[in-house]
Amino acid sequence: MKSLNQFKNIKDKRVLLRVDFNVPISKGKILDDFRIKQALPTISYLRKKGAKIILLSHLGRSGGSLKPIAEYLNKFFPVQFGQGKPLPGKVILLENLRQNPGEEKNDLVFAKKLAKLGDVYINEAFSVSHRKQASISQLPKLLPSYFGFQFEREIKNLSSVFKPKKPMLLILGGAKFETKMPMLKKFIKIADYIFVAGALANNFFKEIGFEVGRSVVDEKNFGLKKLLASGKIFLPIDVVVKKGNKKLIKAQNEVGKDEKIVDIGPTSVKLLEHLIGKSKFVLWNGPLGWYEGGFGGSTERILKFKKLQKNKTIIGGGDTVALVSKLKLDKKLTFVSTGGGAMLEFLSKGKLLNK
Ligand code: 3PG
Repeated sequence: MKSLNQFKNIKDKRVLLRVDFNVPISKGKILDDFRIKQALPTISYLRKKGAKIILLSHLGRSGGSLKPIAEYLNKFFPVQFGQGKPLPGKVILLENLRQNPGEEKNDLVFAKKLAKLGDVYINEAFSVSHRKQASISQLPKLLPSYFGFQFEREIKNLSSVFKPKKPMLLILGGAKFETKMPMLKKFIKIADYIFVAGALANNFFKEIGFEVGRSVVDEKNFGLKKLLASGKIFLPIDVVVKKGNKKLIKAQNEVGKDEKIVDIGPTSVKLLEHLIGKSKFVLWNGPLGWYEGGFGGSTERILKFKKLQKNKTIIGGGDTVALVSKLKLDKKLTFVSTGGGAMLEFLSKGKLLNK
């Protein structure tokens, strides 16, 4: 695929623009529009050049409707929702691609149907480009194809992580060790310090032999003790636990059987600030605490830490990004990735789809 700047004679071309508008929606209201906003420059460029735009997106995994997104987009340009006779001057947004089983099955017949609607394909959906699905992996084989502006920025910025300014700090939080383990293995060679938080830290605690009570923890053992021998890994020294309705601060090795670790404690926040202070480059994926459960305190505090903004800082992962955009910090950080899983996949493999 080529860069969008190489796309000439755009006027009147029917452009299939794959975007990722898979954003959190509750009762018809969009809770975080960061991903949508990042796609707007490409849309507005194509509109100015006179393209006939057809937006393609998925939403969730159970086939919900993109109608609230169509309403939201109407604030920026006139939108026509769903298939039908194209009306002049309107940007078309098709209904959730995953309502057709062919999308997730990477079905060529479905991709061919989509391809008939356009002359050119543009991928502006970095965050779903680790999925082998029809609109991502088949469509570019059927039409002349380009990357969107945000997609290119993602590749450029995330690639810079492989040759970072030193010292480099990796902050790894959130849950799902399975998906983050490859990242840990790769960056143990590249990073100088790795701070592990969120539910991931609970797995370290468990394998060391500390009590984790009712905390979220992956059942599997990952051989984490071996990784600790590198001397690069830092774990929270203290944690915030929930005991019934009470919130307590405990040392990492003093968690009770009836307690749940929900955030890192104040001493750990200080330790992390110290590591950020010593670093020139910070790569951060996943929140430090149980953000969805209302324990975003330490994540928020670290995001506002001034030295983070002075360093070269690259951040990604759904919940962390939602917080960055809520705090309006996205312009203050070097780069905020739209990708969660896609960012992890790219950073641990150096590529997205296996051909
Ligand atoms: C994401 O939110 O990470 C992407 O939109 C991909 O969604 P998926 O995990 O449902 O494929």
